Amino acid sequence: MTSISYGGDYNPEQWPEETWPEDIELMRQAGVNLVSIGIFSWALLEPRRGEYDFGWMDRLFALLHEAGIRISLGTPTASPPAWFFHEHPEARVVTRDGTVLGFGSRGMASPSSPAYREASVSIAQALARRYGKHPALALWHVHNEYGAPVSECYSPDSVRAFRRWLQERYGSLNALNQAWGTAFWGQRYGEWEHVPAPAVSPSVVNPAQRLDFARFTSDALLQCFIAERDVIRVESEAPITTNFMAGSCPSVDLWKWANEMDVVANDHYLDAADPRNHVGLALSADLTRSLAGGRPWILMEHSTSAVNWQPRNIAKRPGELARNALTHLGRGADAVMFFQWRASRSGAEKFHSAMLPHAGTGSRIWREVCALGRGLGRLGEVLGSEVRAEVAILWDWESFWAQDLEWRPSVDLSHRERIDAFYDRLWRDGITVDFAHPESDLSTYKLVVAPASYLLTDVAASNIRRYVEDGGTLVVSYFSAIVDEYDRVHPGGYVAPLREVLGLTVEAFLPLRAGETVTLTGEMTCDVWADDIALEGAEVLAVFEDGPGAGKPAITRHTLGAGSAFYIATRLGVDELSVVLRRPYDDAGIALSTAPDDVELIRRHADHANYLIALNHSDRPAQLSVAGTDLLTGKTGDSLKLEAGGARVVRVCL
Ligand code: GAL
Repeated sequence: MTSISYGGDYNPEQWPEETWPEDIELMRQAGVNLVSIGIFSWALLEPRRGEYDFGWMDRLFALLHEAGIRISLGTPTASPPAWFFHEHPEARVVTRDGTVLGFGSRGMASPSSPAYREASVSIAQALARRYGKHPALALWHVHNEYGAPVSECYSPDSVRAFRRWLQERYGSLNALNQAWGTAFWGQRYGEWEHVPAPAVSPSVVNPAQRLDFARFTSDALLQCFIAERDVIRVESEAPITTNFMAGSCPSVDLWKWANEMDVVANDHYLDAADPRNHVGLALSADLTRSLAGGRPWILMEHSTSAVNWQPRNIAKRPGELARNALTHLGRGADAVMFFQWRASRSGAEKFHSAMLPHAGTGSRIWREVCALGRGLGRLGEVLGSEVRAEVAILWDWESFWAQDLEWRPSVDLSHRERIDAFYDRLWRDGITVDFAHPESDLSTYKLVVAPASYLLTDVAASNIRRYVEDGGTLVVSYFSAIVDEYDRVHPGGYVAPLREVLGLTVEAFLPLRAGETVTLTGEMTCDVWADDIALEGAEVLAVFEDGPGAGKPAITRHTLGAGSAFYIATRLGVDELSVVLRRPYDDAGIALSTAPDDVELIRRHADHANYLIALNHSDRPAQLSVAGTDLLTGKTGDSLKLEAGGARVVRVCL
């Protein structure tokens, strides 16, 4: 493609066909050049098992093709038809407490159901045979948002598949018993048939068993994707993807998934309750780019205004639509898509915003949709350019699954809260961030932050050690490097795998009471947590002045080889982190942004040019001294006036 892709989910089967030409004419007016179709159309495409009705989709393909609009074709397997569940009641999803989920909503069948696997592969294959070589086909959009609303399933098929997965992982029951520590609480297994899924039980279920079930669930869903992808691949050369929910769907390990995609695609919806939700948006975009290995990615869905599924669905303010879309673009998206093209009159999502709202073409949203389409039409040269980051935050779904289980030292421990706090600090400091798996190559980063690395393998610990020895700067937050991949405490005690890197060990956890605060050197206050640290070479930068750890180190720094490693033994807010991160920034040689508060600046780089994406989230105009050409207006100058709420894309003079 030679221009930024623009469009959304298009579900025209909700309207009589006479409406379609009007849709297409309005798409042209809005600058739409890509639409996703067929995502939930299984019941229409295959009204009875093996009987296909492609007539309406043929006509839709023809109309879109004639209008020059390209197609991202969904496989409809996120919503099997009523006949499927009627024939295969055993394929229904069973929740952890044994509830069997009924029909009448959406959400796939059990990922481990052989009947579902067969039916979904058949419909994917039929679509691939019919449309796989159609000239309008740009992309395959397999399924929809794996992991939501269905993730774990406890059906008999799932339990059998879990056992097979365990047999492959462990080889022998002896190895499984060792890994899960089943000697405790009398859980030793003598037969594979006795190993259950971790359903609701009288007390806390073995955490290693739950962690493996989370891994199995992600793998079972991934196998569903791979099965569809592989039959499509035989018939079609178009790239194949599925839409991730990076940052908001905890149940799939997207590091593994990303390897299976031809191009990474993501959906993002603002958290309406958060007045600074543009920071969460930036995090999701950075995580998606990281999953894509730094390459451009597709924003498959976001909203033009309010969604309909949060407790209070807040409409976007004037200008917010473009600011959100251009933030995704600034952080690496080469396609900007919405859910959905035309607002639904019926069904569960009729109060969800759309590109063409119920209020029609006289509305502000429609004008903003058309203005964004025109703007994106001028940004073709940005296509393919890349974002570079000097800082990485470690992110590992396996660690999150383990940490989020029951009976941890404090209910106030939250891996996500810590990641958000560090990310927010870096965002405010104007520093672009990648996310990285702890076992991945870290050598290109000046600074690596580990806000929530509860589960840290020995391989990851050696990787991190090498990074520091070779000159990297590391910041580790509390409750990191505690357990191995089986949720077993590392031999040598808490933080043991990073003991020599950090120059300390943690003798005991000293969690705080609800609402309790503690003072640190420099009048900083903290809450939730304290560690009882024994120093083994680290220098102390701050101590606890009161609380259960009074007099003990709270923030430390240790040098190893050519690098340095900081440890933060308590929960600090975003303002306190500003003070604490100064030293790591210095060590790493990282310069803070001089942009005004709440003005977000991101850069994309290409061989031929550099681009600055400037977004003003504040209610005050801002002036930036940037020499270049504003691609949205065509104006060239030495400075950029950014109105309150404004967004600009500038080709910077080199
Ligand atoms: C997404 C989903 C879409 C639509 C949208 C509404 O999660 O993929 O089909 O439901 O949410 O915000």
